[in-house]
Amino acid sequence: MTRTVVLAGASGYGATYLREIEELEARGLVRLVGLCDLRPLDADARFAGRPFDTRLDRLLAATRPDVAIVATPIHTHLPLSRQVLEAGCHLLLEKPPAPSAAEWRTIRTLARDNALSCQVGFQSLGSGARTRLAELIAAGGLGEIRGIGCYGAWSRDTSYYQRAVWAGRRELDGVPVADGALTNPFAHAVATALALDGSTGWNDITALETELLRVRDIQVDDTSCLRLRTRNDTVITVAVTLAARTPEEPVVVVHGSRGRAELHYTRDLLVLDGRPEQYGRTSPLVNLLAHLDDGTALQSDIDACGAFTRVLEHVNTSPAPRLIDERWLTREGEGPSARVHIPGVEQAVRASAENLATFAELAAPWAV
Ligand SMILES: NC(=O)c1ccc[n+]([C@@H]2O[C@H](COP(=O)([O-])OP(=O)(O)OC[C@H]3O[C@@H](n4cnc5c(N)ncnc54)[C@H](O)[C@@H]3O)[C@@H](O)[C@H]2O)c1
Repeated sequence: MTRTVVLAGASGYGATYLREIEELEARGLVRLVGLCDLRPLDADARFAGRPFDTRLDRLLAATRPDVAIVATPIHTHLPLSRQVLEAGCHLLLEKPPAPSAAEWRTIRTLARDNALSCQVGFQSLGSGARTRLAELIAAGGLGEIRGIGCYGAWSRDTSYYQRAVWAGRRELDGVPVADGALTNPFAHAVATALALDGSTGWNDITALETELLRVRDIQVDDTSCLRLRTRNDTVITVAVTLAARTPEEPVVVVHGSRGRAELHYTRDLLVLDGRPEQYGRTSPLVNLLAHLDDGTALQSDIDACGAFTRVLEHVNTSPAPRLIDERWLTREGEGPSARVHIPGVEQAVRASAENLATFAELAAPWAV
């Protein structure tokens, strides 16, 4: 069945959706009936000629799509989601779903009250590697789970923070944004670890602590460690940085009494006791289309973002992230390509995941 779709937010991450929509149109699965953005599309854009509007509510009224995709800045998610759900369209909403718990609850209620589906764009949850690992854990294949540790070490230059007014912000003009490392760039790590433990509800977290640090003049954390305990008594840690000298893709490590699993969630790769297994993935949009067609379960339902949102709310309302002293940092490049590094941070995030420990417990000198 061909579903009609509109996309709000056509550049930035929205470009990924445009590529996917082009592919799905060729397979007859969707038809893009409109685009919404504050900025005009490039003249040579593939979808030039399709209905375009700077206002989503007007575009929805004119096109009446089955599905609307919202891939706009985080602080616009609630107002645009409201327009989508009140227009009677199913929603694919980019992650994080909302910059506060109150806004997440409102979107969830709007979807429920209007009997519409709302998928959140946590694409790591559609990975075959994640599904296989979750099944293995549930079947006891790794024995008793001692804990889940995630680590991530990326590097972002100054242009990353200059690309949009909301980048690196906790709030903008009085509304929450929540663009910290844990809540946005590494949001998948948090959501994936919680999902592997089957702890996706708000009340599934019983204890929560964070160490929030930064190397830049921003409002949010760029180097952070989160440790929480779930109702299953699983300890989960997530230690991440955007100030690595040697970036590497993030990994979720599951420590079991009878085995160890590493989920490389950006690469759909599962390593079980050292043996690699490669998988494919189902995108959030394709999964939503299957859900609408035959009731296939949503891989990232807005309802299942409770525990993630609890982490987000905690991070975004904690005392402001602490600036790491200059003596622990090195700098490279100038202007938009300038980078800041914390020598040794790559080892620290790995050690956190291995030992389920915080930076302070590991005595990382820049953290204490
Ligand atoms: N799933 C992922 O891996 C992934 C990766 C990157 C970003 N994201 C998410 O995608 C979303 C967008 O991020 P981005 O970096 O592309 O943002 P961005 O600032 O580049 O904005 C994306 C587009 O939205 C448009 N826009 C802004 N406000 C709008 C409005 N009110 N109505 C219509 N269009 C509007 C902008 O003009 C821009 O073209 C965020 O939620 C972000 O967290 C997800």
